[in-house]
Amino acid sequence: MEANNGFKTNATRHFRSKCATEQLCQFRPAPFIVLSIRNLSKTFSSAGEPVHVLRGVDLDLRHGERVALTGESGSGKSTLLHLIAGLDAADGGTIQLEEIEVTKLSDAGRAGLRRDRIGLVFQQFNLVPSLSVADNLAFQARIAGRHDAAWIKELVERLGLGGLLKRYPEQISGGQQQRVAIGRALATKPSLLLADEPTGNLDEATAEDVLALTRDLVARTGCGFLMVTHSLHLAATLDRHLTLHAGRIA
Ligand SMILES: Nc1ncnc2c1ncn2[C@@H]1O[C@H](COP(=O)(O)OP(=O)(O)OP(=O)(O)O)[C@@H](O)[C@H]1O
Ligand SMILES: [Mg+2]
Repeated sequence: MEANNGFKTNATRHFRSKCATEQLCQFRPAPFIVLSIRNLSKTFSSAGEPVHVLRGVDLDLRHGERVALTGESGSGKSTLLHLIAGLDAADGGTIQLEEIEVTKLSDAGRAGLRRDRIGLVFQQFNLVPSLSVADNLAFQARIAGRHDAAWIKELVERLGLGGLLKRYPEQISGGQQQRVAIGRALATKPSLLLADEPTGNLDEATAEDVLALTRDLVARTGCGFLMVTHSLHLAATLDRHLTLHAGRIA
């Protein structure tokens, strides 16, 4: 039986990927590669002119792996995250998330994928102002039918949010708000955590604290983590650092 709220350690995931019949996999299918992108392209139209933003992006991300993506402003980092999350549709290429080909899904299918398998964190914390910290943490997991009180309790402890549960977003600091947003994104036990400049609104020390907590939680859950950042310093603290340039990942 699997302990730990249904999460598997990296070692278990390695084992699982080699042994498809192993009973440990009760949470969801856990291939070693959580995200596989091939030849992804996206072109926007601006004032009637095509803007070729992504020109054949390839990317593989493993369970438990923490990857930073940097690139100059306008290079297409947010566009790539939006395509992976199914918030927009690609023009060509494939995105495979575990056993699901995202690029073949309908709008409704992509919404379901986001709900069930993807955690999203943005620069703006996007908490619901009328909900307490406790409710902000739990509501997405409740909506998704994936609420696990023991896991949310663990998230509260690990993120140091215990004394803040009854407060409202406007009553806590930016760093605390981002910790709530990360907890909310992980409360559903996603396969993949996507973060677009999650520390962009935080001072340097707070940014390092928040990212350290996120790194630990990703290791704990075994989900994949792809973070867009402008900070080369923070990028260097993750397992891999990729750069988006001229529509491709180097
Ligand atoms: N909906 C859209 N319509 C037209 N052009 C768009 C659209 N979304 C993005 N773009 C263009 O695509 C390019 C990439 O934008 P994107 O937001 O992905 O860049 P980014 O790397 O995230 O930049 P930043 O670091 O400033 O956040 C830019 O030239 C942008 O103007
Ligand atoms: Mg961006």
